[in-house]
Amino acid sequence: MTHDGQLEGKLAIVTGASTGIGAAIARAFVDAGACVLAADIDEARGRALHAALGPRCRFVHGDIGSDAVLDALIQSALDFAGRIDFVVNNAVFYGDRGAEASRAEWLHALDINLVSGALLVHKASAELAKQGGAVINMGSVGGKFGTAGRALYPAAKAAILQLTRNQAATLAPQRVRVNSVSPGWTWSDALSRMAGGDRARADAMAAPLHPLGRAGDVEDVAQVVLFLCSDAARFVTGADIPVDGGFSMLGPDQGRSARDWFERGT
Ligand SMILES: NC(=O)c1ccc[n+]([C@@H]2O[C@H](COP(=O)([O-])OP(=O)(O)OC[C@H]3O[C@@H](n4cnc5c(N)ncnc54)[C@H](O)[C@@H]3O)[C@@H](O)[C@H]2O)c1
Repeated sequence: MTHDGQLEGKLAIVTGASTGIGAAIARAFVDAGACVLAADIDEARGRALHAALGPRCRFVHGDIGSDAVLDALIQSALDFAGRIDFVVNNAVFYGDRGAEASRAEWLHALDINLVSGALLVHKASAELAKQGGAVINMGSVGGKFGTAGRALYPAAKAAILQLTRNQAATLAPQRVRVNSVSPGWTWSDALSRMAGGDRARADAMAAPLHPLGRAGDVEDVAQVVLFLCSDAARFVTGADIPVDGGFSMLGPDQGRSARDWFERGT
């Protein structure tokens, strides 16, 4: 899919943009003609992204868990482009010791994965309203199903889907649309680490769970984010779009009928 020039003159704030899905989203916005205010705590990779994307990208180094950083993001976006059209809440803290997690760990995970994005949207809402803009919150298949041993990340991701609906209802009168995108296993640092850097191994492991037969690419997710920000999605709000190769349409029967289970066994 090409979006060349489609978002010319618009400005997107993307959190967690130094790497992985966020970097792909930033690149997709720039390819579509938009400017990107990329935010991340990873300064080295943020600077590298900025160098790779050129003058349509500005990088702000900071922790989204700080209100001062969120304010700086808004101000930098306005200094850069004089407007804010899109906010993509993509930054993530994956740390999750499940039931063993302390109160401080819980609050940190919820702060980075849920609360900071909510505050950023509120801080940007007046500017978004001026443009009839759009917000994308990053969900996950991890927020839709039970997973043993985890709690913090899935709870935050489940909450994001509800927050998206609340934000969509709140901001609809200002013509601001709010949607979420929920990836399946996607080839970024976390999956790469688990697979020992071996993409074929990741795809082989992902295939039985993702009916399309592979793990996702970061560009698969970025293209859907771009679609939701584009005028093609102008009547879409409060929705969650799975970008998971069919992972979330399967039930525990893995898409096989009872007859098939009996006839073929496991
Ligand atoms: N990769 C997957 O398989 C997958 C699956 C489902 C959902 N997702 C979601 O997609 C999004 C991106 O995932 P990813 O795998 O590309 O992540 P990633 O770990 O590759 O990148 C996340 C970025 O967020 C930044 N970040 C972390 N804490 C921050 C903070 N406090 N302030 C600013 N920046 C911070 C990191 O430095 C990093 O650059 C996340 O919301 C994640 O939950 C990913």
